[in-house]
Amino acid sequence: MKHIFKQGSQTSAPTLVLFHGTGGTEEDLLSIGEMISPASSILSLRGNVLENGMPRFFRRLAEGVFDIEDLVVRTKEVYDFLDEAAEKYSIDRHNMVAVGYSNGANIAGSLLFHYEDAFKGAILHHPMVPLRDKKLPDLTGIPVFIGAGRNDPICPAKESDDLDALLDGARALTHLHWENHGHQLSRTEIEAAAVWFSKHFKS
Ligand code: MLT
Repeated sequence: MKHIFKQGSQTSAPTLVLFHGTGGTEEDLLSIGEMISPASSILSLRGNVLENGMPRFFRRLAEGVFDIEDLVVRTKEVYDFLDEAAEKYSIDRHNMVAVGYSNGANIAGSLLFHYEDAFKGAILHHPMVPLRDKKLPDLTGIPVFIGAGRNDPICPAKESDDLDALLDGARALTHLHWENHGHQLSRTEIEAAAVWFSKHFKS
C-alpha cells in the first residue's frame, strides 16, 4: 500500500498507524499524529480504493452503505500490510495504535472487529459501526477512543453509541468523547485524544 513511514525519537512509544478520510491521502493526518504522540514513529497509509478519484480504504454502495464483501477483503489487506511494514521498518507489530478519521476510522474499526491483535489501541474520529451481526474477537483491555459529533449528519449519534456498546461487549476499554460539532475533526477533539493517549500509553 502507498504509505509514509517516519521513524520516531522513542522506539518504545507505540507506532501510530494513520488512516485518512474519503478523498484524503497519507499526508492528511501527519500533523495530528504529531499532536497525539510527538515521539512515536508514524506509519501513514493511503487507501487503495478510488471513488470518483477520491482515495478510500474500502468501497461503499452509497453514503453510509458499505460494500461488506470489499470491506472484509480490504481489512485483511491492511492487516497483512501492517505485518509487512513491521518487518520492513523493524517496528514492533504488537505496539501499534491506530488513528483514523471517518472512512479511515471505519477501516480501523473493522480491523478491531476482525482481529484481536490488530492494534494495541485505537483512536477513531467519527467512526460508524463498520459491519453488524459479527461476533467480535476478544479485545480485553484494548483502549479505544471514539470521537463523535452530536450534530454529525454522516455519522448519527446512534452509530457512535452502538459502536461503543459493541466494543465494550468485546471487553475493549472504550472512551466516548462528544463534541457539539458535525463531521469535522476539531482541535479540541484531537487534544482530548492526545490527553487520552498519554494516559493509556506512557512511553
Ligand atoms: C464511509 O464511507 O466510510 C463513511 O461514510 C464516512 C465517509 O464519508 O468516508
